[in-house]
Amino acid sequence: MCGIVGYIGSNPTLDFLIEGLKKLEYRGYDSSGIVVFMEKPYLKKCQGKILKLEKTLIEKELKLAQVGLGHTRWATHGAPNTVNSHPHVSNSGELYVVHNGIIENYESIKSVLIKKGYHFKSETDTEVLVNLIEEVKKTENVKLGKAVQIALNQVIGAFAVCFLDVNNPNEIVVAKLGSPLVIGIENNNFYIGSDPSPFIRYTNRCLYLGDNEMAILNKKEGLTLRSLQTDNILKPKLENLKLELEQVEKGGFKHFMLKEIFEQPKNIKDALRGRILTRPNRIKISSIEENITKMAKSNRLIFIACGSSWHASLLGEYYFEELARIPVEVEYASEFRYRNPIIKEGDIIVPLSQSGETADTLAAIKMAKEFNPFLFGICNVVGSSIARETDSGVYIHAGPEIGVASTKAFTCQAIILLMLSLDLGYRTGKLEGLKYNLIIDELVKIHQKVEQLFKESKKIEHIAKKYQNSRNFLYLGRGLNFPIALEGALKLKEISYIHAEGYPAAEMKHGPIALIDKDMPVVVIATEKGKYHKILSNVMEIKSRGGKVIAILSQGDEDIRRIADDFIEIPNADELVSPILANIPLQLLAYHIAELKGCEIDQPRNLAKSVTVE
Ligand code: G6P
Repeated sequence: MCGIVGYIGSNPTLDFLIEGLKKLEYRGYDSSGIVVFMEKPYLKKCQGKILKLEKTLIEKELKLAQVGLGHTRWATHGAPNTVNSHPHVSNSGELYVVHNGIIENYESIKSVLIKKGYHFKSETDTEVLVNLIEEVKKTENVKLGKAVQIALNQVIGAFAVCFLDVNNPNEIVVAKLGSPLVIGIENNNFYIGSDPSPFIRYTNRCLYLGDNEMAILNKKEGLTLRSLQTDNILKPKLENLKLELEQVEKGGFKHFMLKEIFEQPKNIKDALRGRILTRPNRIKISSIEENITKMAKSNRLIFIACGSSWHASLLGEYYFEELARIPVEVEYASEFRYRNPIIKEGDIIVPLSQSGETADTLAAIKMAKEFNPFLFGICNVVGSSIARETDSGVYIHAGPEIGVASTKAFTCQAIILLMLSLDLGYRTGKLEGLKYNLIIDELVKIHQKVEQLFKESKKIEHIAKKYQNSRNFLYLGRGLNFPIALEGALKLKEISYIHAEGYPAAEMKHGPIALIDKDMPVVVIATEKGKYHKILSNVMEIKSRGGKVIAILSQGDEDIRRIADDFIEIPNADELVSPILANIPLQLLAYHIAELKGCEIDQPRNLAKSVTVE
């Protein structure tokens, strides 16, 4: 996890570093720090968020500095206190570093360095790394860039790192393996970020550093890209970003999460744009077209994912089995990577990830590659590591998601999975035209239905008030609504810290029913018409034990509406589409409960948006 920024050029850097760190706070916010150089280095660090750090920046000289590094931390090694915060400095006081990632063999390197007389103030792996580079620089008598290249070949782990040598403040050296790093370029002004959001107000020209690459950013000589392994000079491939500033700002909403919930109609249209043609209805996804032979022959899809992406994958299981008649398995990436899985010829691995950087998902991909399967990635962040590690795939085009709890990305993942399974089913003759046409008609209207269900917002706020003090919640759903029950419960626990569990509705009688009493609200997602009477019986079972039922219903429902304590209606839709709609009031319910409880919605305690450590 962690977010890093850096700048070198001919402009004052302090505002860029601070505002940039605020943009990256979604990556971790246990502590933060900066170092800027102005005749001498100024190092400022503190536990807690960037706002706290900002208050400590009182010296006037800081405003003038034209080179600096910054870091916002999600603690891995060592408590989230000031000493463990980045930037870290080498024993001589000459080298500074900010690091995102993890150095797995830091203990053995540390003991070698201790024997050579090095001492360590923090418990971090990063302080070990900067001292290793210092040691290499001294013993090999080389410049910072060469020392970084030699030292990083001795470490095992993942890193995006930026180094500054106070003897040469015209230069920053950056390197990457595993964790993300992108450099914004405007003449000889270089902006560094874990993602481009810190610098899009300055430039849209950028270089995504690849794994095992390093760059020397010199304000006079420009950028030199080298291979970490061979030290050879590489040709940088610059890209033009399409990101707009407003996409990474709150735009009048109190929280990013709320903005992202209300943005969903637009995100859905973006996800479908250019991929659905109507009259005659046709889905056009180039990665499916190009790989149709492999896909048609495939025996099985294996989804690997974490968190909300894992829930979306479960939805994908229903979609692909129903529409494309391909067997699907859904795996937690963290479990899959350590199993001895059976991957056979004809299996397609489908990693699903919003950030495209989740460490467990990436490691699962690397492990799966040993079996040489076809890897089809589904990601949001363009150019992310997972997008690069896979053979082919599709972007969900949800735009930047900043709130730690996933909302719009989940919705777009579900839309893309539905579209992919429809396309595949139709092309392989497993799905008849009537259903294909019907779902396409639904897909092109879904954004309007989401707009329509926002009319229930006030009512959802009212329900949130009523149940805000409950200590436990149960979420129930059958079939396609089961992943929605899991996702609804996850949203609530992530941002309001209320314990919530999602269950398949029929499993309630195998345990959770014992918990039901008047203090236990049960959210029942009851939109599936085919199993309506079964879910109605579940609602009766809850009511007869004194439980409180909040039902998510389709418009026109009569029976459950009458017995539920509270209900939220969603527009009528096909059963494959209604779960996507039913999820949205659950996002709002979690949001309003968390807001009433005064929780830090965009940055819930202990969580981070992009989990780039195990
Ligand atoms: C973290 C985030 C979740 C996300 C999960 C997987 O836990 O807080 O919102 O669902 O990581 O992330 P990915 O980027 O791989 O979808």
